[in-house]
Amino acid sequence: MATRDEFNATARLLKQRLEGLAVWGVRELPVPRPAASGSSPRDPELWRGMNRQVDSPAQALARLEQEVIACRRCPLYRTRTHHVLGEGHPRAKLMFVGEAPGREEDLQGRPFVGAAGRLLTKMIEAIGLTRQDVYICNILKDRPPNNRPPEPSEVEACLPFLERQLAIIQPAVICALGATPAKALLGAHVAITKVRGQVREYRGILLVPTFHPAYLLRNPPAKRFAWRDLKTVKALLSETSSP
Ligand code: URA
Repeated sequence: MATRDEFNATARLLKQRLEGLAVWGVRELPVPRPAASGSSPRDPELWRGMNRQVDSPAQALARLEQEVIACRRCPLYRTRTHHVLGEGHPRAKLMFVGEAPGREEDLQGRPFVGAAGRLLTKMIEAIGLTRQDVYICNILKDRPPNNRPPEPSEVEACLPFLERQLAIIQPAVICALGATPAKALLGAHVAITKVRGQVREYRGILLVPTFHPAYLLRNPPAKRFAWRDLKTVKALLSETSSP
């Protein structure tokens, strides 16, 4: 049994570590809240300090959203109507990552709600899930004017937000939709036609790139490849959720 001094020393060390992580922008950790009674350390100040770090995933996402709203790392905030953080289950096993909000998304502040979004919804339902089961977001959180492709500097500026979403949600599988997320997450050299359907990894998370739904709307014959990729995603999800 640890003495009070040992306990407080460990708690202080832990607090220091958490504060160190906070410097890097980490605001949440996957630590369950302590039992309601009987487990508080004696030093209530320390306990309050530690507890502040532990948000629920939904709270952590809400906090992240405030940072996106305030973000001035690139000029896209000047031309947006609404930022688009993302939506879905805050602890989704599957995360879809697209390129950037389009016109409809910019107007509504929600991801994938236009024509490509309607196809994405069907793709999600085709593997037995709903939009509420998964998390949907983009590399960029603001719309580039006239839907032009994102600039590399915009991708670099916005990627830390996706990193934080991944840290909060902790999906088992990422499905990258199209060339922009495939390049942003796997390297600028990758070609979506080459890597689609392959099982890769991003920061230890399984990643399957597939075609962007907007491309599938323009090239319906490519849907059969996307369907194959979605079946790969589905198989990975059942492997990762089996005991
Ligand atoms: N295309 C994307 O890449 N993202 C959206 O949210 C909508 C269309």
